[in-house]
Amino acid sequence: MIDKLKELIAEAEAFKAQTKDEVETFRIKYLGKKGLLNEYFAEFKNVANEQKREFGQTINQLKKTAEDKVKALKEELESNEEVKGIYGDLSRPGEPIQIGARHPISIVKNQIIDIFSRIGFNVSEGPEIEDDWHNFTALNLPEYHPARDMQDTFFIQTNPDILLRTHTSSVQVRYMENNKPPIRTISPGRVYRNEAISARSHCFFHQVEGLYIDKDVSFADLKQTLQYFTTEMFGKSEIRLRPSYFPFTEPSAEVDVYWGLKTETDYRITKGTGWLEIMGCGMVDPNVLENCGIDSKEYSGFAFGMGIDRIAMLLHQIGDIRLLSENDVRFLEQFKSAL
Ligand code: PHE
Repeated sequence: MIDKLKELIAEAEAFKAQTKDEVETFRIKYLGKKGLLNEYFAEFKNVANEQKREFGQTINQLKKTAEDKVKALKEELESNEEVKGIYGDLSRPGEPIQIGARHPISIVKNQIIDIFSRIGFNVSEGPEIEDDWHNFTALNLPEYHPARDMQDTFFIQTNPDILLRTHTSSVQVRYMENNKPPIRTISPGRVYRNEAISARSHCFFHQVEGLYIDKDVSFADLKQTLQYFTTEMFGKSEIRLRPSYFPFTEPSAEVDVYWGLKTETDYRITKGTGWLEIMGCGMVDPNVLENCGIDSKEYSGFAFGMGIDRIAMLLHQIGDIRLLSENDVRFLEQFKSAL
């Protein structure tokens, strides 16, 4: 009989329950009025005297084991219920998290901002709907200036003074009007030009323009800054400046970076020359400084401007500019691993 009791103790110790009902059934089976314990207690009188002591101890042990078990299981189930109440069922599989991707324009824009912010340039923004003054006149492009044709403009039909900005140089004008030199700022943003849409050009695209105004700013400063930029952005430090023309800078230049001719792609994108045109730049024309309330005898400065779309297409091997604005998720999803 003692052996039987020991078996019951082991059984009670090993017992596990998922629900309160199961615990209750267990309690009744061991500790209930007609339960095992009472049954064995009733046997006590029939046990031989020399075994009474051991029998008594074992039956007490069974009682304690059963009571402890009931208490422990109840507590466990109650605390589980509490957790469930707060968090729901913790054993359910997790929900898959959809990771978004940054747009390639944003990726490249952020890279450019990051590079220039390391040498003290802040970011300035302005409106996409501009007036004639900020987009043209202040930039040394008075009415009927032939260079206005360089950028085919979308005008608001009812008011020729209002237009969609053709470059973010307009933001630089606004910045100069509202801030005193020294000025170091870059202006990223969307710009619009009335051009036929094709794989290579669109009627809207994105630019980052830069402006640095201080005392004694020279062309050498411009070149150093551009070289720093191409090294950081493309890992290429060899640049050349080709004389060019912009109404708002004098002298003006186009910037080419030496891309190399190692691969077939290099041949294709540089048209076999190894050189890639990446931006326009120049020393800010004194007229522009004066138009914006800056004394051109005291201050000088440089400006530059580049197209983000073109650089994004170059760096990410995008063959058609239209992909950048079509919002095709199959295209956009490919940039999940990018910055
Ligand atoms: N604003 C010019 C463009 O959109 C680029 C540029 C900026 C050129 C600054 C020179 C200096 O084409």
